[in-house]
Amino acid sequence: MTVSPAQKPIFVLQGPNLNLLGEREPHLYGTTTLAEIHDSLVAQGEAAGVAVECRQSNHEGQLIEWIQEARMASCGLIINAAALTHTSVALSDALAAYPQTIMEVHLSNLWKREAFRHHSYVSPYATGVICGLGAEGYTVAMQALIKRLKP
Ligand code: DQA
Repeated sequence: MTVSPAQKPIFVLQGPNLNLLGEREPHLYGTTTLAEIHDSLVAQGEAAGVAVECRQSNHEGQLIEWIQEARMASCGLIINAAALTHTSVALSDALAAYPQTIMEVHLSNLWKREAFRHHSYVSPYATGVICGLGAEGYTVAMQALIKRLKP
């Protein structure tokens, strides 16, 4: 299926250190690179007729700017806020103002890890939370989000 130019894209936002996927702690995060994850999400969107816009930043303020931009510019949001998941009230507030469906993704299973990773400032605003499936989690999140897109 081809992507309609009128359809707003799904935004995929990736937080700090996720640019290092593939080399960073592969026993936790796997060996798939961020570029490979993004290529596969764009292809998955293309097959469903939805454009996908993928971005990564190591900066909290940049991610907040993109969430604000996404309010008007996107039809849904997939976010792995990485460590900011556990710390950022500001990011949480930005997500609270996002009107479309949000899917939260984590590559690792947060519940098998340190207690400080058990709290998420993202989850209260997410329709679904997928963690522990590695790169596959993004595919699952995309599939679930596409199903829930408003016409
Ligand atoms: C992560 C889990 C976070 O706790 C961690 O800070 C990350 C990655 C994950 O995808 O498993 O950077 O979000």
